[in-house]
Amino acid sequence: MFVLGLQGSPRKKGNSHYLLTRFLGECESRGARTEVIHMDGLDIGPCRELIVCEKKGFCPIKDEMEPHIYGLIRRADVVVLASPVFFYNVSAQAKILIDRCQMFWGRKYKLKLADPDAASRQGVLLAVGASGGKRLFEGVELTAKYFFDAISATFAESLTYKKVEAAGAIAEIAGVDADIKTAAGRVMAAMQNKPTLVFVSRKDACRSQMAAAFAKHIAGTDIRVLSAGIEPARDIDPLALDFMAQQGIDIKYRLPGAVDNLMAEKFTDGQPFQVVCLEPEVIPIPGAKTIFWDLPKPADPQSVASVGKQIQSRVDALVKTVRQQKRNI
Ligand SMILES: Cc1cc2nc3c(=O)[nH]c(=O)nc-3n(C[C@H](O)[C@H](O)[C@H](O)COP(=O)(O)O)c2cc1C
Repeated sequence: MFVLGLQGSPRKKGNSHYLLTRFLGECESRGARTEVIHMDGLDIGPCRELIVCEKKGFCPIKDEMEPHIYGLIRRADVVVLASPVFFYNVSAQAKILIDRCQMFWGRKYKLKLADPDAASRQGVLLAVGASGGKRLFEGVELTAKYFFDAISATFAESLTYKKVEAAGAIAEIAGVDADIKTAAGRVMAAMQNKPTLVFVSRKDACRSQMAAAFAKHIAGTDIRVLSAGIEPARDIDPLALDFMAQQGIDIKYRLPGAVDNLMAEKFTDGQPFQVVCLEPEVIPIPGAKTIFWDLPKPADPQSVASVGKQIQSRVDALVKTVRQQKRNI
């Protein structure tokens, strides 16, 4: 499980930092891997409304957003947005990153491509403001709502605190740590205690990525689906991207994962897991129950369509079986 924190305050040891650090700590103590993007230090420019993303599905501005930050968002099981209230909205630093996620909005609503993680990705808002105004968090919450929708995340939790002004003052507010523990516990519980499917190939750039995307797309929240490569490639194979886009499934910005990293993470929590290996000659995870799909590595649009269709029908059958086994437990 990967939890991405987006830190919107320019204050290094401020109140948003306090909330985010504690929230991520709770997730880590429940087995998640976490990473923080400090939006204040990012070299990214604001959206220039070029509308390329809505027509072609990418942002032409060349900076850290593509592929690094878009890739992290796509990889995240949970995105935690932490921000102070600045003039009744998130900080400008956070708003720049959020506006650049119009790229995801364009792919989802204009190009009609579905993120395969849409059913399971969760969004969490952590916010603080100095005043006691009744409507203090309305702007921030609306922005978070539409941001999470654009990145295909369910708005799962919102923790907001009024009358917090000086850096670190949040630490004096009673009940904050308990709130965070409860919210993080709920978020993590939604991802745990489910059977896991792991698709492995040599590079995790084509067949295993297609299999994982089909499986996530149809399994929703019932099954956890991962993919990994024995020697992972840097990028997804464009043949796989195009074929999946024709099926309405968006795998752009996904990054091939490594079996070694999967082993280092707690990728299963005692629940049954099944490895599907697309390289017949190797046992990628020693001791794991492994089935082999001997399908050729596609080399052109015709072969990717044929292999992709075979993967899709095998994934359909496998997901049905895993669901059945889950019901029988
Ligand atoms: C530019 C700026 C605008 C602010 N606007 C608001 C506001 O509209 N309402 C409010 O209650 N607090 C406002 N504040 C106060 C901060 O939200 C508050 O101090 C918060 O605790 C800072 O969190 P941080 O330590 O994570 O940066 C503003 C502060 C700054 C610097």
